[in-house]
Amino acid sequence: MTSMNHNATSKTNNLSEKGAGDTVIVTGASGSIGAEVVKSLLQKNFSVIMACRDLEKGNTVRNEILKEFKGKENVVSLEKLDMSSFSSIRQFVDKISNKNIQLYGLMNNAGTINRGFQLTNDGVEETIAVNYLGIVLLTEVLLPMLDNGARITNVISMTTNPKRITKDMFEYSPKKYRQLRNYGQSKTALLLYTAMLSEKTKGKIHVNAADPGIVDTNILKLDRWFDPLADLLFRPLVKSPGKGAIPLVNALLAEETGKIFLGNSFKSISGDYVKHPLRDWFLENSLKHSHQAAEETK
Ligand SMILES: NC(=O)c1ccc[n+]([C@@H]2O[C@H](COP(=O)([O-])OP(=O)(O)OC[C@H]3O[C@@H](n4cnc5c(N)ncnc54)[C@H](OP(=O)(O)O)[C@@H]3O)[C@@H](O)[C@H]2O)c1
Repeated sequence: MTSMNHNATSKTNNLSEKGAGDTVIVTGASGSIGAEVVKSLLQKNFSVIMACRDLEKGNTVRNEILKEFKGKENVVSLEKLDMSSFSSIRQFVDKISNKNIQLYGLMNNAGTINRGFQLTNDGVEETIAVNYLGIVLLTEVLLPMLDNGARITNVISMTTNPKRITKDMFEYSPKKYRQLRNYGQSKTALLLYTAMLSEKTKGKIHVNAADPGIVDTNILKLDRWFDPLADLLFRPLVKSPGKGAIPLVNALLAEETGKIFLGNSFKSISGDYVKHPLRDWFLENSLKHSHQAAEETK
């Protein structure tokens, strides 16, 4: 089911439309699109917390950004956040909440596309952990810190398909693991969660999804035999990370909620998600496998 596209730029460039806080958390800020999102937010005078799993890499990227944004050292901080670990997510949120930061929003940008099956220490398949269940936990524990007008943006991809939500999606086995299928399932889950969270928080928080399109970044390298072929065919056609960041920033600044941002426009999340037959089961189990699981192991 498709929805009409709307132009995103008219409403989304104005800093005066900001909500209560002025700080944005960007996960995966050490990556190509994440770093561009950080730059764009600095240009718009936000403060940014770069949330990275690898502090050394994060620091190198931060230093590179600061070469372009001299004098902004005090408004770009770096924090450790490993989205594949429930305890790392909890530690990150504890640290943020102790700092009395006024949050404007959360950019759930970190993502992975694992070549092989791998379980995290929490017993979750890693792609689902990083791209979905970790995001549910991070978002749910941050919600009380988000005031009226705050924003959440979840980064999805064109691999979403409502049929990927199945009742065995939280049962993991190497046998049924497929790199692209699991990635698509994790992004589909994130889109369904976006639809449900935007309904739940309507009138308070703006929750949107954003698809960067096909962007020339490391994530396109699938560690497969066809990488050189894909490089040859697709890389010259794909967007730059700067262009890929545009719909993410548009989504974060938007007055809308429950939309998908792509390029310079946006559309409603389709009824296939909003009225998904497994939605209640899905939400209950998403919370059980992330938020509640993390609560129990605290
Ligand atoms: N590129 C595309 O064509 C495309 C298309 C659709 C959607 N996307 C989405 O766009 C987002 C950004 O990806 P990208 O293209 O910019 O790729 P990228 O350059 O590889 O960036 C991915 C980022 O996610 C971080 N990350 C991976 N696993 C993590 C973990 N366990 N904990 C915390 N951070 C973790 C990476 O950290 P390190 O720097 O430490 O590796 C990196 O900062 C992802 O959600 C991706 O799925 C990309």
